[in-house]
Amino acid sequence: MESINVLKGYGKLNSAEAQTPHHHRAAKRPLILAVTVSSIVLLTITLGLLIGALVRESSTEGSEAQSLRSSSAQSIRAVCSVTQHQDSCFTSISSLNSSVEPDPEAIFELSLRVCVNEVSNGSLFVRDLVKSSNDARSKGALGDCAGLLEDAASRLRDSVAAMEAAGPGEKALTELKISNIQTWVSAAMTDQETCLDGLEEMGSTVLEMVRDRLSRSREFMSNSLAICAQMSAVLEKFEMGMH
Ligand SMILES: *[C@@H]1O[C@H](CO)[C@@H](O)[C@H](O)[C@H]1NC(C)=O
Ligand SMILES: *[C@@H]1O[C@H](CO)[C@@H](O)[C@H](O)[C@H]1NC(C)=O
Repeated sequence: MESINVLKGYGKLNSAEAQTPHHHRAAKRPLILAVTVSSIVLLTITLGLLIGALVRESSTEGSEAQSLRSSSAQSIRAVCSVTQHQDSCFTSISSLNSSVEPDPEAIFELSLRVCVNEVSNGSLFVRDLVKSSNDARSKGALGDCAGLLEDAASRLRDSVAAMEAAGPGEKALTELKISNIQTWVSAAMTDQETCLDGLEEMGSTVLEMVRDRLSRSREFMSNSLAICAQMSAVLEKFEMGMH
């Protein structure tokens, strides 16, 4: 039954077509063909562009990490980008070793060395003040301060040592080390603040001078802490994993 109906319908269509003027019928078919072909072409182009964009994106992502890993300066900038004081981070690390291996862990270790140098130099500065001070109260507070800064420097040295303790072929950083280093650097920052609080309580006349002298080391420690806290994100930027 159905096929007969279809045939009937076909016949109807045919007769309807037959009634339309000849040139109309000739124009309609190429139109449908053109619409179909151009739809297919459009779809192909769209798909091609989409795939092209995806390929391009993944290849630029790859080359971004690659270029980070091929330049010391770029890699130091990338690591320092997670800190609050990006300029002091970049300058201090690259003045310590401008051709450091472009590896986030090596750069982080250098940032800790920057802290060691600055804090131990600060402690020497305060020791000198103790010697030259002739006010007994201030002398006591300065002595305590120098002791605190020496403790801080030794915590920072421990942090560097923890990174060096990796065996051959072993990566320096583990979650545990990161957590320890964070604790030690935070404690070193607290030591330094306690030093300044002590001088302030004693009404020391050299308070502002010491505060100025230690402002750089506070910045450097804050930089190291920021890098440490965001080490996973930094490693991702380099397309490297935590070990
Ligand atoms: C800088 O670091 C690279 C590798 O990280 C090392 O080979 C080079 O000896 C270092 N230079 C200085 C001056 O420490
Ligand atoms: C330590 O500080 C003095 C100034 O107090 C400076 O001349 C010297 O270069 C500093 N040393 C380091 C290693 O930063």
